[in-house]
Amino acid sequence: MATAEPIYQLATPVKVYDNIRTVEAQLRNCKIESLPERYVWPAEAVENPKPVNDEAVAKEEAQNLSIPVVDLAEIDGASEEVRGKIARAMGKACEEWGFFQVINTGIPTTVMDDVNKSAREFFALPVEQMEKATEPPGKPLMGYGGRLSFLSSKVPWVEYLGEFHTPEPGVEALAKNVWEDGNPKFCKAITDYCNSLEQLGLLILELLAESLNLPKDTYSQHFDKNSNYLGSWRFNYYTPCPKATQTVGQGPHSDPDALTILRQDQVAGLQVRKGNTWVTVEPLPGAFVVNVGDFLQAWSNDRFPSVEHRAFVNEKTDRLSIVYFMSPPPMLNIEAPSGLIGENQQSVFRTFTYAEYLGIMFKNRVTGDFSKKALDFMRRGTEAAN
Ligand code: OGA
Ligand code: NI
Repeated sequence: MATAEPIYQLATPVKVYDNIRTVEAQLRNCKIESLPERYVWPAEAVENPKPVNDEAVAKEEAQNLSIPVVDLAEIDGASEEVRGKIARAMGKACEEWGFFQVINTGIPTTVMDDVNKSAREFFALPVEQMEKATEPPGKPLMGYGGRLSFLSSKVPWVEYLGEFHTPEPGVEALAKNVWEDGNPKFCKAITDYCNSLEQLGLLILELLAESLNLPKDTYSQHFDKNSNYLGSWRFNYYTPCPKATQTVGQGPHSDPDALTILRQDQVAGLQVRKGNTWVTVEPLPGAFVVNVGDFLQAWSNDRFPSVEHRAFVNEKTDRLSIVYFMSPPPMLNIEAPSGLIGENQQSVFRTFTYAEYLGIMFKNRVTGDFSKKALDFMRRGTEAAN
């Protein structure tokens, strides 16, 4: 299937900025003294979790504030009872946090090692070669980005490389632009990784439906290979920043998709909002960080919140995260399943498509509004207010 029409558009840049690596080199060689304004974030976006003054509260917070961990070691061939227990733990994590870490997924270490090596191989290339993978026509935010020229607001200190895995895998075309021989090893590593993550994502979507007492394929049926769901991978690479305390790797945002599954390396940086504070997601070897996206919030009738998160950068250490995003087929009309709606009640959100949602969301985001306004706009009763 050829992707003729882009499902969302970004503003055309009025100015093309320097690549982040150029800025980094200029700072290190003292060619420039300060971080360019567009990378300088307001203090409240950068500051670490606020210290808690009350000792008792601090103690309680220290005990409670870590992302739940769900263990999948026993899922294969599990009895109904064991499976139910795992599903409930996952559901509870999503209701309370919108986030959890998952361990013992059964994904072979070699799959993750290979994709990790491939990501590192790419970001070790000279800038000119990386930029050969710059956004393919009609695919906003895919390919390589190291300038973020489309954002008219503050920009994060991050480079990315990404493509669709489904409905049409984009990795080979991308690799052909970067390497003369199309780097078959790179393509294979990414394809194997995506296939594994897709399976993990389907299992998680089943367990989440079960936790809500819905038929297990309620969500997962729409993420079938034949469903034209949007599956995409992305590497986020945070090169060290000489002015790390003034900037962020990702500003506070929620993900628009249904489900995000992220592998961070052993360098901490990801933080999740919990009430008025931010909680650091501890890197656990072999774990994946899973979070609910905006679309699943609507699809779960507000039971699973898509929670804001952000990421830090470091002065001396680089950081890499490898992400798989699962978004529904763009034109599928989606409404919360009837099992989640009380008698004589309506769903919290109106029926809408992912394509419609992205259109609204990106209009806000290019101007720097990364709030959840777009999702709130989809709530019933807000039509008149907007
Ligand atoms: C993202 C994201 C965080 C990280 O890609 O949406 O939130 O740690 N990434 O890279
Ligand atoms: Ni995110």
